[in-house]
Amino acid sequence: MSDEVLSQFTQQVDDTPQIDTSRKLRVGIIGTGWIAESHMDCYKQMPDVEIVAGADLIPGKAEAFFKRFGVEGVRCYPSHKEMLDAEQLDAVSICTYNATHAECAIYALNKGVNVLLEKPMSVTTEEAVDIMKAEKKSGKILSIGFQPRLDANMQMIKKIVDTGVLGKIYYIQTGGGRRRGIPNSTFIEKKTAGIGALGDIGCYSLDMVLNAIGYPKPLTVTGYTSNYFGTSPVYNNPTDAARFDVDDFAAAFVRLEGDIVLDFRISWAMHIDTPGDTIILGTEGALRIPSTDCWNGSVGGPMTLYHDVAGQQTETVIPIIPNSQGWGGLFYQKIRSFLDAIKNGGTAPVPSSQILYNQAIIDGIVKSAEKGREIEIQIPAVD
Ligand SMILES: NC(=O)c1ccc[n+]([C@@H]2O[C@H](COP(=O)([O-])OP(=O)(O)OC[C@H]3O[C@@H](n4cnc5c(N)ncnc54)[C@H](O)[C@@H]3O)[C@@H](O)[C@H]2O)c1
Repeated sequence: MSDEVLSQFTQQVDDTPQIDTSRKLRVGIIGTGWIAESHMDCYKQMPDVEIVAGADLIPGKAEAFFKRFGVEGVRCYPSHKEMLDAEQLDAVSICTYNATHAECAIYALNKGVNVLLEKPMSVTTEEAVDIMKAEKKSGKILSIGFQPRLDANMQMIKKIVDTGVLGKIYYIQTGGGRRRGIPNSTFIEKKTAGIGALGDIGCYSLDMVLNAIGYPKPLTVTGYTSNYFGTSPVYNNPTDAARFDVDDFAAAFVRLEGDIVLDFRISWAMHIDTPGDTIILGTEGALRIPSTDCWNGSVGGPMTLYHDVAGQQTETVIPIIPNSQGWGGLFYQKIRSFLDAIKNGGTAPVPSSQILYNQAIIDGIVKSAEKGREIEIQIPAVD
């Protein structure tokens, strides 16, 4: 068949974003470390964004950051407070380490600024609730930085569940990890990260399955954490090993509302390639979602749906959707969806009301591990 004939059947899609530039948003960046680079890369592509301010606790870091990106006239401040006190902003990206997420988010919301907060939402459940109280009082948009959710393959998991083909879901196994992959810098100390693999990559596994099944409330948890690899000068750089005081492995058994149990494990380092695929078991079918090699919160290969067809045990392979990340990729979509919600009076693309339960499971795992027994997951009221 000639190209001319074939092209009649090829839908021409122009997916270049149409952005209304009649209203420019004044944006500030709090924390100008590693992830702030991806925020900046995306903002620079958006004609309706003016980056007006930035802040970092490390003297000179914010100034060097904006210079590196070739953006001029950005006012730099020594912390989020000075920046938010001095500037009139429409939105901020909070790209600080986990331990300062809550104070930065609460301060920004109290100033009436819309917030895109990097994941994990916070370190503790109490902090997450305090952020939500500030969000509620402010009436502003707070979205949490879970960009894997915007991937079409990830969205497929929810679509499959929503068809009802799995029946009543009663058991979920999720998690992932790496044989070796311990980060360094601010990720490995409680004073900056608060939590280790749990907050870095565990929150993604939880979001993958909880979002798919509608974020049921977590009730109880038996959690375990350890850090044999992170603290070892054999498996970690000796200087980093000496200051390492967060988890590098966690496992948990969580009971969720609706008589669902969640079996979870996450790892930055271990003596095996993966702690297993994600599986969702239901009364009518089951779904297997392969893990990625280096767990980053996405689908690792074609998913398999196990179900009976006319009495025959059948496996249906769900092919990977190509170009699943949309125009500009997931980081661009994460920021664009947040800005569009501000401009169009929409709601948060990744709402705190869901991520609160993600955080409560993580915090519950930490608290149960400390006590060495099962605990009830306590979630204070937001009102
Ligand atoms: N969404 C993703 O894919 C993704 C990827 C990596 C990291 N993250 C998250 O992003 C966050 C930051 O990670 P990172 O690797 O950029 O860390 P980083 O340590 O490189 O940068 C954090 C910066 O925040 C600054 N900071 C801390 N508190 C501050 C405050 N009150 N005011 C101003 N500046 C402050 C620090 O000085 C530091 O420069 C973490 O919560 C992490 O989990 C998300």
